[in-house]
Amino acid sequence: MQNFRRTHINDNIGFTYPLPIGYCLNEYEIEEIIGKSKGSIVYRVWDHHLKQSIAIKEYTPHSFATRSQNMKLNLRGKKLEKRFYSGLQNFIREAHLMSCFEHPCLPRFLRFWQQNCTAYIATSLYKGMTLNKLRIKYPHFINENWLHQILFSLLGALDTLHQRNYLHYDISLDNIFIQENQSPILLDLGSTRQTTTCLSDDTEITIRSGFTPVEQYAANEENQQGPWTDLYALGAVLYTLIVGKSPPVSIVRNLEDNYQPLVKLRPAGYSLPFLHAIDSALALNPSGRPLSISEFIAIFSTTSTQPAPLTQTPTNL
Ligand SMILES: Nc1ncnc2c1ncn2[C@@H]1O[C@H](COP(=O)(O)OP(=O)(O)O)[C@@H](O)[C@H]1O
Ligand SMILES: [Mg+2]
Repeated sequence: MQNFRRTHINDNIGFTYPLPIGYCLNEYEIEEIIGKSKGSIVYRVWDHHLKQSIAIKEYTPHSFATRSQNMKLNLRGKKLEKRFYSGLQNFIREAHLMSCFEHPCLPRFLRFWQQNCTAYIATSLYKGMTLNKLRIKYPHFINENWLHQILFSLLGALDTLHQRNYLHYDISLDNIFIQENQSPILLDLGSTRQTTTCLSDDTEITIRSGFTPVEQYAANEENQQGPWTDLYALGAVLYTLIVGKSPPVSIVRNLEDNYQPLVKLRPAGYSLPFLHAIDSALALNPSGRPLSISEFIAIFSTTSTQPAPLTQTPTNL
């Protein structure tokens, strides 16, 4: 197994000082911080030319750089230069991918540029919240019909990537955004890459405990990755929304599989065919999972009834 860098996502992260509210980044005035992680900050900004709010993501790798008074990023040390620039290349790749893919459930790319010794991606601004926030704020929205609707929109977005041999590689509750009209957006193409890409030792592999399938931990010939790799993470998202906690960590399951199938747990209000389809995406061994989006959809359509139309509309997202 090659020795890739693994990025373990957790919530206890520091982050580089953001651009101050009111600061003008060219024609864009910073209005609010709407997302932050150890690698980037997302702002809601006002576009003074087009007279509308948009979202801007700034590359801010906290471990490698700080911000100086003139708003430029400064390396924390010369030794970190290589990793800073490798992350920057990845950010540029993310912008490039966003500009290549068009789907109503993928973020709409507006522009990319470099400034302040870092880089920026501008996209449309979406109103709503991530699935992670929604499940805490509006847990009563989550039922089979609602999930069915969200899932099938997301599968369309994911298929757009898979059709061109790209995998998202970081499907999670934080990267799925539910708009006020209930339509989902699959955010964050930062980990997205082609299945055929040769990974260098500098490649960051994103790991989310409970969401990352076993084959994503170790990329080698025997550990083939494909659409089934994203389907595992998507299954884990659905499982978490239904059960209230993520499935057991896949590499722990690999030693002793203590996964409790949903069809055995029988959570109230969910049909067996729906639960069975999610269990199939969460098979530990890739060969037990649907191999493609269309195979996954076929499991639903052979065993499930048509989803009922949405009855609940949030008033207050
Ligand atoms: N276009 C957008 N509209 C609204 N919120 C957004 C947008 N893009 C990102 N966000 C918010 O910022 C957070 C982080 O964005 P993301 O692209 O996932 O960055 P990271 O790579 O740092 O995880 C998201 O979880 C979401 O809450
Ligand atoms: Mg993200």
